[in-house]
Amino acid sequence: MSTELPEWVPADIDLQRPNAARVYDYLLGGACNFEVDRRFAHKLLETAPESEAILRHNRAFLGRAVRFCVEQGVRQFLDLGSGIPTVGNVHEIAQRGAPGCRVVYVDNEPIAVAHSELMLEHDENTGVVLADLLDVDTVLGSEPVRQLIDFSRPVAVILAAVLHFVPDEAGPHAAVARYVEAMAPGSFLVLSHGADTGQERYRTVRRMYDQSSTPAAVRTREQIEAFLTGTELVEPGLVWTTHWRPELAIRPAPEPEVIYAGVGRKPGVR
Ligand SMILES: C[S@@+](CC[C@H](N)C(=O)[O-])C[C@H]1O[C@@H](n2cnc3c(N)ncnc32)[C@H](O)[C@@H]1O
Repeated sequence: MSTELPEWVPADIDLQRPNAARVYDYLLGGACNFEVDRRFAHKLLETAPESEAILRHNRAFLGRAVRFCVEQGVRQFLDLGSGIPTVGNVHEIAQRGAPGCRVVYVDNEPIAVAHSELMLEHDENTGVVLADLLDVDTVLGSEPVRQLIDFSRPVAVILAAVLHFVPDEAGPHAAVARYVEAMAPGSFLVLSHGADTGQERYRTVRRMYDQSSTPAAVRTREQIEAFLTGTELVEPGLVWTTHWRPELAIRPAPEPEVIYAGVGRKPGVR
């Protein structure tokens, strides 16, 4: 993909700087990435070799959280910062649990959206939106969201490994509060977020991301928990991804852990 670009690659794509969606895709074994992303990923692994395991555990948490929401009766999902489709996409997991689950994917990275559209063009229960999650009116007013998501019924709004790419100046807490406000009682907010653990090598990682098209904005545990305001955390609360309702101990937990995970339920009677 580094020399010949496939037709579905949008013409205005920034190939000069690495991008979080494509670096993540590469580290998860995907093929929607470019030389600049792969070089960045290798530097990331040299600096923090546990990064790959951390990302895989984030993805595994996302799968468990989606299954949990389906078990709780949720049949519609809004996945904000959904990324490039890879193994264990939200619609696959949700529809395996309950056929007919509806899923809308939202991302601001054109490759992620183009690839999602290609993958989902024949699935009438899914939709894709190219938008910044901070532009709440655009997301909620988009055609796929209006057609597939009924906000008078419980919905799971997913923010997995995305808010640590949104700086405080952009107002992420206010934007998330608007999604929570839109959700019906009995809905869930699924969150995972990189934490500031004070480790020197993660300062280096952050400086690396500052040179990418997606600078990092890691936060303290308290700042991360604040995103769940207006919901009640389900057990076990806000914990490292590996500690959130683990099902299988396939791999040892990465050391150090840097991504917190939690699921909040909007209280009230459905
Ligand atoms: C590390 S990937 C996470 C993908 C997926 N949510 C997961 O956890 O497996 C982060 C994604 O968030 C997207 N993203 C970053 N900032 C965004 C924003 N402001 N609005 C929408 N998407 C955003 C990136 O393009 C990327 O696809």
